[in-house]
Amino acid sequence: MTISPHGGTLIQLIEDKAHYQFDYSLSVDETAASDLELIATGAYSPLKGFMTQKDYKTVVHEMRLASGLIWSIPITLPVSKQMSVPIKVGDLIELIFNKQPIGTLKVTDKFEPDLYEEAKLVYQTVDRKHPGVKKLFTRGDVYLAGPITFFKNQKKSHPFQKYYFTPKETRSLFLQNGWKTIVGFQTRNPVHRAHEYIQKCALETVDGLFLHPLVGNTKRDDLPADVRMKSYEVLLDCYYPKDRVTLGVFPASMRYAGPREAIFHALIRRNYGCTHFIVGRDHAGVGNYYGTYDAQTIFSQFALEEIGIKPLFFEHAFYCQCCKSIVTKKTCPHDSSNHLHLSGTKVREMIKSGVKPPPEFSRPEVIKTLINGLSD
Ligand code: ADX
Repeated sequence: MTISPHGGTLIQLIEDKAHYQFDYSLSVDETAASDLELIATGAYSPLKGFMTQKDYKTVVHEMRLASGLIWSIPITLPVSKQMSVPIKVGDLIELIFNKQPIGTLKVTDKFEPDLYEEAKLVYQTVDRKHPGVKKLFTRGDVYLAGPITFFKNQKKSHPFQKYYFTPKETRSLFLQNGWKTIVGFQTRNPVHRAHEYIQKCALETVDGLFLHPLVGNTKRDDLPADVRMKSYEVLLDCYYPKDRVTLGVFPASMRYAGPREAIFHALIRRNYGCTHFIVGRDHAGVGNYYGTYDAQTIFSQFALEEIGIKPLFFEHAFYCQCCKSIVTKKTCPHDSSNHLHLSGTKVREMIKSGVKPPPEFSRPEVIKTLINGLSD
Protein backbone atom coordinates (compact mmCIF):
# COMPACT_ATOMS: atom_id res chain seq x y z
CA MET A 1 0.00 0.00 0.00
CA THR A 2 1.28 3.45 -0.86
CA ILE A 3 0.28 6.71 0.81
CA SER A 4 -2.98 8.22 -0.51
CA PRO A 5 -2.57 11.14 -2.89
CA HIS A 6 -3.71 14.61 -1.77
CA GLY A 7 -7.49 14.66 -2.21
CA GLY A 8 -7.67 10.84 -2.47
CA THR A 9 -7.29 10.32 -6.24
CA LEU A 10 -4.18 10.47 -8.38
CA ILE A 11 -5.25 12.66 -11.29
CA GLN A 12 -4.33 11.31 -14.76
CA LEU A 13 -4.94 13.63 -17.71
CA ILE A 14 -2.40 12.39 -20.23
CA GLU A 15 -3.80 11.42 -23.61
CA ASP A 16 -2.67 10.62 -27.12
CA LYS A 17 -2.80 13.65 -29.31
CA ALA A 18 -6.38 13.60 -30.54
CA HIS A 19 -7.94 15.50 -33.41
CA TYR A 20 -9.79 18.36 -31.83
CA GLN A 21 -11.53 21.34 -33.35
CA PHE A 22 -9.71 24.12 -31.55
CA ASP A 23 -11.12 27.60 -31.18
CA TYR A 24 -7.70 29.08 -30.63
CA SER A 25 -3.98 28.23 -30.32
CA LEU A 26 -2.00 29.78 -27.51
CA SER A 27 1.77 29.78 -26.90
CA VAL A 28 2.58 29.38 -23.22
CA ASP A 29 5.75 29.99 -21.18
CA GLU A 30 7.98 27.36 -19.56
CA THR A 31 6.25 27.66 -16.17
CA ALA A 32 2.78 27.12 -17.65
CA ALA A 33 4.07 24.20 -19.74
CA SER A 34 5.58 22.52 -16.67
CA ASP A 35 2.47 23.21 -14.58
CA LEU A 36 0.35 21.62 -17.32
CA GLU A 37 2.54 18.51 -17.27
CA LEU A 38 2.48 18.28 -13.47
CA ILE A 39 -1.31 18.65 -13.34
CA ALA A 40 -1.68 15.92 -15.99
CA THR A 41 0.68 13.43 -14.36
CA GLY A 42 -1.06 13.79 -11.00
CA ALA A 43 1.86 15.55 -9.28
CA TYR A 44 -0.55 18.40 -8.51
CA SER A 45 -3.47 16.15 -7.46
CA PRO A 46 -6.28 17.10 -6.82
CA LEU A 47 -5.90 19.87 -9.45
CA LYS A 48 -7.42 19.03 -12.82
CA GLY A 49 -6.63 22.29 -14.52
CA PHE A 50 -5.54 25.90 -14.10
CA MET A 51 -7.28 27.54 -11.15
CA THR A 52 -10.60 29.30 -11.52
CA GLN A 53 -11.08 32.61 -9.70
CA LYS A 54 -12.88 30.84 -6.87
CA ASP A 55 -9.98 28.47 -6.16
CA TYR A 56 -7.41 31.19 -6.82
CA LYS A 57 -8.97 33.51 -4.22
CA THR A 58 -9.12 30.91 -1.47
CA VAL A 59 -5.58 29.71 -2.26
CA VAL A 60 -4.20 33.25 -2.09
CA HIS A 61 -6.10 34.19 1.08
CA GLU A 62 -6.46 30.94 3.02
CA MET A 63 -3.98 28.49 1.47
CA ARG A 64 -6.93 26.28 0.62
CA LEU A 65 -8.83 25.30 -2.52
CA ALA A 66 -12.52 26.21 -2.57
CA SER A 67 -13.16 22.57 -1.59
CA GLY A 68 -11.26 23.19 1.65
CA LEU A 69 -8.22 21.07 0.74
CA ILE A 70 -4.86 22.65 1.57
CA TRP A 71 -3.09 24.30 -1.37
CA SER A 72 -0.58 27.11 -0.93
CA ILE A 73 0.59 28.26 -4.39
CA PRO A 74 -1.72 29.54 -7.18
CA ILE A 75 -1.44 27.45 -10.36
CA THR A 76 -2.57 29.81 -13.06
CA LEU A 77 -2.32 30.43 -16.79
CA PRO A 78 -1.54 34.12 -17.30
CA VAL A 79 -1.84 35.87 -20.66
CA SER A 80 -1.50 39.51 -21.63
CA LYS A 81 -4.68 41.61 -21.76
CA GLN A 82 -4.28 41.94 -25.49
CA MET A 83 -3.92 38.18 -26.03
CA SER A 84 -6.91 37.48 -23.81
CA VAL A 85 -9.34 39.58 -25.89
CA PRO A 86 -10.34 36.94 -28.50
CA ILE A 87 -10.53 34.10 -25.92
CA LYS A 88 -14.00 33.38 -24.55
CA VAL A 89 -15.35 31.18 -21.79
CA GLY A 90 -16.32 27.91 -23.50
CA ASP A 91 -13.43 27.95 -25.98
CA LEU A 92 -11.25 24.89 -26.45
CA ILE A 93 -7.66 26.02 -26.68
CA GLU A 94 -4.64 24.27 -28.10
CA LEU A 95 -1.62 24.97 -25.88
CA ILE A 96 1.74 25.36 -27.61
CA PHE A 97 5.22 25.35 -26.11
CA ASN A 98 8.44 25.65 -28.14
CA LYS A 99 6.28 25.50 -31.28
CA GLN A 100 4.91 22.06 -30.28
CA PRO A 101 1.29 21.34 -29.28
CA ILE A 102 1.47 20.13 -25.69
CA GLY A 103 -2.13 19.93 -24.54
CA THR A 104 -5.57 21.47 -24.30
CA LEU A 105 -7.47 23.88 -22.08
CA LYS A 106 -11.24 24.11 -21.90
CA VAL A 107 -11.80 27.69 -20.76
CA THR A 108 -14.34 27.81 -17.93
CA ASP A 109 -13.16 31.06 -16.37
CA LYS A 110 -11.21 34.18 -17.36
CA PHE A 111 -10.38 36.82 -14.78
CA GLU A 112 -8.10 39.70 -13.84
CA PRO A 113 -6.17 38.89 -10.66
CA ASP A 114 -4.91 41.44 -8.16
CA LEU A 115 -1.21 40.78 -8.68
CA TYR A 116 -0.15 43.00 -5.77
CA GLU A 117 -2.37 41.04 -3.43
CA GLU A 118 -0.98 37.76 -4.81
CA ALA A 119 2.61 39.01 -4.34
CA LYS A 120 1.93 40.25 -0.81
CA LEU A 121 0.15 37.14 0.40
CA VAL A 122 2.01 34.40 -1.46
CA TYR A 123 5.54 35.86 -1.54
CA GLN A 124 5.20 38.23 1.46
CA THR A 125 6.73 41.03 -0.62
CA VAL A 126 5.93 43.16 -3.67
CA ASP A 127 9.64 43.80 -4.27
CA ARG A 128 10.38 43.13 -7.93
CA LYS A 129 13.92 42.13 -7.02
CA HIS A 130 12.39 38.91 -5.65
CA PRO A 131 12.65 36.48 -8.61
CA GLY A 132 9.17 35.00 -8.02
CA VAL A 133 7.53 38.41 -7.72
CA LYS A 134 9.36 39.71 -10.78
CA LYS A 135 8.01 36.79 -12.78
CA LEU A 136 4.51 37.23 -11.37
CA PHE A 137 4.37 40.84 -12.56
CA THR A 138 5.63 40.05 -16.05
CA ARG A 139 3.72 36.87 -16.95
CA GLY A 140 0.36 38.48 -17.76
CA ASP A 141 -2.58 40.38 -16.29
CA VAL A 142 -5.39 38.00 -17.22
CA TYR A 143 -5.69 34.42 -15.97
CA LEU A 144 -7.33 31.72 -18.10
CA ALA A 145 -8.72 28.76 -16.17
CA GLY A 146 -10.31 25.39 -16.68
CA PRO A 147 -9.62 21.67 -17.12
CA ILE A 148 -6.63 20.55 -19.17
CA THR A 149 -5.19 17.58 -20.97
CA PHE A 150 -1.56 16.89 -21.77
CA PHE A 151 -0.22 15.08 -24.84
CA LYS A 152 1.72 11.91 -24.15
CA ASN A 153 4.55 12.48 -26.64
CA GLN A 154 6.12 15.16 -24.41
CA LYS A 155 7.60 12.74 -21.90
CA LYS A 156 9.67 10.90 -24.51
CA SER A 157 11.61 14.02 -25.34
CA HIS A 158 12.37 14.96 -21.74
CA PRO A 159 16.08 15.89 -21.38
CA PHE A 160 16.46 13.71 -18.27
CA GLN A 161 14.34 10.84 -19.53
CA LYS A 162 16.23 8.22 -17.54
CA TYR A 163 15.25 10.00 -14.32
CA TYR A 164 11.78 11.10 -15.39
CA PHE A 165 9.09 9.31 -13.38
CA THR A 166 5.43 10.22 -13.06
CA PRO A 167 3.88 9.91 -9.58
CA LYS A 168 2.25 6.67 -10.75
CA GLU A 169 5.67 5.32 -11.69
CA THR A 170 7.43 6.36 -8.46
CA ARG A 171 4.61 4.83 -6.44
CA SER A 172 5.08 1.47 -8.13
CA LEU A 173 8.88 1.80 -7.90
CA PHE A 174 8.68 2.34 -4.13
CA LEU A 175 6.36 -0.67 -3.83
CA GLN A 176 8.76 -2.84 -5.87
CA ASN A 177 11.61 -1.74 -3.60
CA GLY A 178 9.55 -2.85 -0.63
CA TRP A 179 9.77 0.63 0.89
CA LYS A 180 6.98 1.54 3.30
CA THR A 181 8.44 4.87 4.40
CA ILE A 182 10.07 7.20 1.90
CA VAL A 183 11.55 10.61 2.54
CA GLY A 184 11.43 13.16 -0.29
CA PHE A 185 14.18 15.73 -0.74
CA GLN A 186 13.65 18.89 -2.78
CA THR A 187 16.68 20.76 -4.07
CA ARG A 188 17.66 23.30 -6.67
CA ASN A 189 21.35 23.09 -5.80
CA PRO A 190 24.20 20.60 -6.03
CA VAL A 191 24.16 18.43 -2.91
CA HIS A 192 26.64 19.77 -0.36
CA ARG A 193 27.69 18.13 2.90
CA ALA A 194 24.88 19.67 4.96
CA HIS A 195 22.30 18.34 2.49
CA GLU A 196 23.97 14.92 2.67
CA TYR A 197 23.92 15.06 6.46
CA ILE A 198 20.20 15.80 6.75
CA GLN A 199 19.32 13.27 4.06
CA LYS A 200 21.31 10.56 5.84
CA CYS A 201 19.88 11.48 9.26
CA ALA A 202 16.43 11.00 7.72
CA LEU A 203 17.51 7.79 5.99
CA GLU A 204 18.44 6.33 9.39
CA THR A 205 14.74 6.28 10.27
CA VAL A 206 12.94 5.57 6.96
CA ASP A 207 13.23 2.87 4.27
CA GLY A 208 14.18 4.96 1.25
CA LEU A 209 15.30 8.38 0.07
CA PHE A 210 13.74 9.98 -3.00
CA LEU A 211 16.25 12.59 -4.19
CA HIS A 212 13.97 14.80 -6.25
CA PRO A 213 15.83 17.82 -7.64
CA LEU A 214 13.80 20.50 -9.35
CA VAL A 215 14.93 20.77 -12.98
CA GLY A 216 12.40 23.24 -14.38
CA ASN A 217 12.80 26.98 -14.65
CA THR A 218 15.09 28.54 -12.03
CA LYS A 219 16.65 31.98 -11.70
CA ARG A 220 19.61 32.69 -13.93
CA ASP A 221 22.33 32.41 -11.29
CA ASP A 222 21.21 28.97 -10.03
CA LEU A 223 23.37 26.17 -11.46
CA PRO A 224 22.00 24.58 -14.67
CA ALA A 225 20.08 21.34 -14.15
CA ASP A 226 22.25 19.23 -16.50
CA VAL A 227 25.37 20.07 -14.48
CA ARG A 228 23.54 19.38 -11.21
CA MET A 229 22.24 16.03 -12.45
CA LYS A 230 25.80 14.85 -13.16
CA SER A 231 26.78 15.91 -9.64
CA TYR A 232 23.89 13.91 -8.10
CA GLU A 233 24.88 10.83 -10.13
CA VAL A 234 28.49 10.91 -8.95
CA LEU A 235 27.50 11.62 -5.33
CA LEU A 236 25.04 8.71 -5.22
CA ASP A 237 27.59 6.45 -6.88
CA CYS A 238 30.31 7.20 -4.34
CA TYR A 239 28.49 7.85 -1.05
CA TYR A 240 24.96 6.37 -0.94
CA PRO A 241 23.69 2.79 -0.70
CA LYS A 242 22.23 2.02 -4.13
CA ASP A 243 19.29 0.02 -2.85
CA ARG A 244 18.04 2.80 -0.59
CA VAL A 245 17.96 5.82 -2.89
CA THR A 246 16.01 6.77 -6.01
CA LEU A 247 16.98 9.79 -8.08
CA GLY A 248 14.17 11.38 -10.07
CA VAL A 249 13.70 14.79 -11.66
CA PHE A 250 10.99 17.21 -10.59
CA PRO A 251 10.11 19.12 -13.76
CA ALA A 252 8.63 22.17 -12.00
CA SER A 253 9.45 25.86 -12.03
CA MET A 254 10.92 27.31 -8.86
CA ARG A 255 8.77 30.01 -7.23
CA TYR A 256 11.14 31.07 -4.42
CA ALA A 257 8.05 31.52 -2.24
CA GLY A 258 9.74 30.13 0.87
CA PRO A 259 7.18 28.91 3.47
CA ARG A 260 4.25 28.62 1.05
CA GLU A 261 6.41 26.71 -1.40
CA ALA A 262 7.51 24.32 1.34
CA ILE A 263 3.86 23.29 1.89
CA PHE A 264 3.40 22.99 -1.88
CA HIS A 265 6.60 20.90 -2.23
CA ALA A 266 5.47 18.59 0.58
CA LEU A 267 1.99 17.99 -0.90
CA ILE A 268 3.52 17.22 -4.29
CA ARG A 269 5.99 14.72 -2.81
CA ARG A 270 3.05 13.01 -1.12
CA ASN A 271 1.54 12.64 -4.59
CA TYR A 272 4.79 11.04 -5.77
CA GLY A 273 4.36 8.50 -2.96
CA CYS A 274 6.62 9.92 -0.23
CA THR A 275 5.55 9.54 3.40
CA HIS A 276 8.07 12.07 4.77
CA PHE A 277 9.51 15.32 3.48
CA ILE A 278 12.66 17.19 4.53
CA VAL A 279 12.35 20.88 5.36
CA GLY A 280 15.63 22.42 6.44
CA ARG A 281 16.91 25.94 6.73
CA ASP A 282 15.17 28.61 4.58
CA HIS A 283 13.48 26.05 2.32
CA ALA A 284 12.75 27.51 -1.17
CA GLY A 285 13.91 30.88 0.07
CA VAL A 286 15.91 33.55 -1.67
CA GLY A 287 17.86 36.54 -0.33
CA ASN A 288 16.56 37.66 3.07
CA TYR A 289 12.86 37.60 2.34
CA TYR A 290 12.04 34.79 4.80
CA GLY A 291 13.17 33.86 8.29
CA THR A 292 15.47 30.83 8.62
CA TYR A 293 12.70 28.57 9.97
CA ASP A 294 9.55 30.21 8.52
CA ALA A 295 9.19 27.31 6.09
CA GLN A 296 8.96 24.98 9.10
CA THR A 297 6.66 27.00 11.37
CA ILE A 298 4.08 27.41 8.58
CA PHE A 299 3.29 23.67 8.94
CA SER A 300 1.85 24.32 12.41
CA GLN A 301 -1.05 26.18 10.76
CA PHE A 302 -2.40 22.84 9.53
CA ALA A 303 -3.30 19.52 11.09
CA LEU A 304 -0.76 16.86 10.14
CA GLU A 305 -3.56 14.55 8.88
CA GLU A 306 -4.66 17.26 6.47
CA ILE A 307 -1.20 17.61 4.96
CA GLY A 308 -0.93 13.83 4.92
CA ILE A 309 2.89 13.73 4.63
CA LYS A 310 5.15 14.08 7.64
CA PRO A 311 7.55 17.00 7.46
CA LEU A 312 10.99 16.28 8.93
CA PHE A 313 12.46 19.54 10.18
CA PHE A 314 16.20 20.09 10.35
CA GLU A 315 18.19 22.83 12.02
CA HIS A 316 20.73 24.79 10.07
CA ALA A 317 23.62 22.32 9.60
CA PHE A 318 27.28 23.33 9.28
CA TYR A 319 30.79 21.90 9.56
CA CYS A 320 32.55 22.11 12.93
CA GLN A 321 36.34 22.07 12.92
CA CYS A 322 36.43 20.66 16.49
CA CYS A 323 33.81 17.95 15.97
CA LYS A 324 35.30 17.32 12.50
CA SER A 325 31.84 16.62 11.15
CA ILE A 326 28.62 18.22 10.05
CA VAL A 327 26.61 19.27 13.10
CA THR A 328 23.85 21.62 14.18
CA LYS A 329 23.55 23.74 17.27
CA LYS A 330 21.56 20.86 18.73
CA THR A 331 24.57 18.54 18.54
CA CYS A 332 27.69 20.73 18.75
CA PRO A 333 29.01 22.45 21.90
CA HIS A 334 31.77 24.50 20.21
CA ASP A 335 32.11 28.20 19.64
CA SER A 336 30.87 29.60 16.32
CA SER A 337 34.44 30.56 15.32
CA ASN A 338 34.94 26.82 14.64
CA HIS A 339 31.99 26.64 12.30
CA LEU A 340 32.03 26.62 8.52
CA HIS A 341 28.67 27.58 7.07
CA LEU A 342 27.57 25.75 3.94
CA SER A 343 25.02 26.72 1.36
CA GLY A 344 24.27 26.06 -2.28
CA THR A 345 24.73 29.76 -2.97
CA LYS A 346 28.24 29.68 -1.46
CA VAL A 347 29.28 26.58 -3.45
CA ARG A 348 27.98 28.27 -6.60
CA GLU A 349 29.81 31.52 -5.89
CA MET A 350 33.10 29.80 -5.06
CA ILE A 351 33.09 27.70 -8.21
CA LYS A 352 32.13 30.65 -10.40
CA SER A 353 34.99 32.71 -9.00
CA GLY A 354 37.50 29.88 -9.53
CA VAL A 355 37.81 28.85 -5.85
CA LYS A 356 37.64 25.10 -5.16
CA PRO A 357 35.26 24.49 -2.24
CA PRO A 358 36.99 22.41 0.49
CA PRO A 359 35.98 18.78 1.19
CA GLU A 360 34.26 19.90 4.42
CA PHE A 361 31.92 21.77 2.13
CA SER A 362 31.31 19.42 -0.74
CA ARG A 363 32.54 15.97 -1.78
CA PRO A 364 35.62 16.27 -4.09
CA GLU A 365 33.93 14.12 -6.78
CA VAL A 366 30.97 16.53 -6.78
CA ILE A 367 33.21 19.58 -7.04
CA LYS A 368 35.09 18.02 -9.95
CA THR A 369 31.82 17.37 -11.81
CA LEU A 370 30.62 20.90 -11.17
CA ILE A 371 33.87 22.53 -12.31
CA ASN A 372 33.96 20.35 -15.46
CA GLY A 373 30.28 20.97 -16.15
CA LEU A 374 30.56 24.71 -15.83
CA SER A 375 33.67 24.99 -17.99
CA ASP A 376 32.14 22.91 -20.86
S1 ADX B 1 15.55 24.81 -2.15
O1 ADX B 1 15.27 26.15 -2.64
O2 ADX B 1 15.36 23.79 -3.16
O3 ADX B 1 14.86 24.52 -0.88
P1 ADX B 1 18.29 23.99 -1.47
O4 ADX B 1 18.57 23.13 -2.63
O5 ADX B 1 19.39 24.87 -1.00
O6 ADX B 1 17.11 24.97 -1.80
O7 ADX B 1 17.80 23.17 -0.20
C1 ADX B 1 17.27 21.89 -0.24
C2 ADX B 1 16.79 21.49 1.15
O8 ADX B 1 17.89 21.45 2.06
C3 ADX B 1 15.79 22.46 1.77
O9 ADX B 1 14.87 21.74 2.58
C4 ADX B 1 16.66 23.34 2.65
O10 ADX B 1 15.91 23.88 3.71
C5 ADX B 1 17.69 22.34 3.15
N1 ADX B 1 19.01 22.96 3.48
C6 ADX B 1 19.87 23.57 2.62
N2 ADX B 1 21.02 23.93 3.25
C7 ADX B 1 20.88 23.54 4.54
C8 ADX B 1 21.71 23.64 5.72
N3 ADX B 1 22.92 24.17 5.69
N4 ADX B 1 21.22 23.15 6.89
C9 ADX B 1 19.99 22.58 6.95
N5 ADX B 1 19.16 22.48 5.89
C10 ADX B 1 19.60 22.93 4.70
